[in-house]
Amino acid sequence: MTPWDAGGVPAQLAAWLQGRKGPSRVLVPGCGSGYEVLQFAARGDDVLAIDFSDAALEAARRVLGKHAAALRKADFFSLEAPAFDLVYERAFLCALPRRLWPDWGRRVAELVRPGGELAGFFYLDDNERGPPFGIPREGLHELLTGNFTLVEEQAIPPDQSLSVFKGREVWQVWRRRL
Ligand SMILES: C[S@@+](CC[C@H](N)C(=O)[O-])C[C@H]1O[C@@H](n2cnc3c(N)ncnc32)[C@H](O)[C@@H]1O
Repeated sequence: MTPWDAGGVPAQLAAWLQGRKGPSRVLVPGCGSGYEVLQFAARGDDVLAIDFSDAALEAARRVLGKHAAALRKADFFSLEAPAFDLVYERAFLCALPRRLWPDWGRRVAELVRPGGELAGFFYLDDNERGPPFGIPREGLHELLTGNFTLVEEQAIPPDQSLSVFKGREVWQVWRRRL
C-alpha cells in the first residue's frame, strides 16, 4: 500500500526546476519510487537518493534504470555525506513519527550547505493519527526558522493533490542561512 505515491514528478517541482540553474548536488531522503530522482539525474544534477526500505529501493531501481547508481540504502539520521545544494522533501517528514521531527530539523540543517535550499512538499495538518503525520504551520516553522528562511510558498490545488494530502499540501522553498 503506497497511497502517497504520486506516480510521477509533481508539476510544481518540474516548473521550479525549469527556472533553476544546474548542476547541483541534490539529496532525496526517503526517495520511495524515485520519480523525482530520475528528473534530477536527467538534468545533470549529482543526485543521491536514500531509503532504508529494500522494497522502496527495488521500485526506484525499476524507475531509474541507467541512473540507478543514484540510489543508496541508508538511514537519513546517520547518513554521512558532505552538505548538499538542495535537499528535496516529499512525503518524508510526514512519514516520520513526531518524536523524530526535532532530529529531522537538525539533520536537514546539517545536510543543506549554507546558502543552499530545502525544497518540496509539506503536509500541513493537525491530524492526530497517521501516517501521514500532518504538521501545523507553526510547528514546521519552529523546526526550521533557526537555520532557514522561507523564500517561496504555493498552495497545491486540491485537484493536483493525492487524496491523502488533499487541500493541505504546500510547495515551499527554504534557504539555509549563511
Ligand atoms: C511515505 S514514503 C514517501 C516516498 C517518496 N518520497 C514519495 O514521495 O513517494 C516515505 C519513505 O521514507 C522512507 N524512510 C522512512 N524513514 C527513513 C529513514 N530514517 N531513512 C531513510 N528512509 C526512510 C520509507 O522507507 C519510505 O520509502
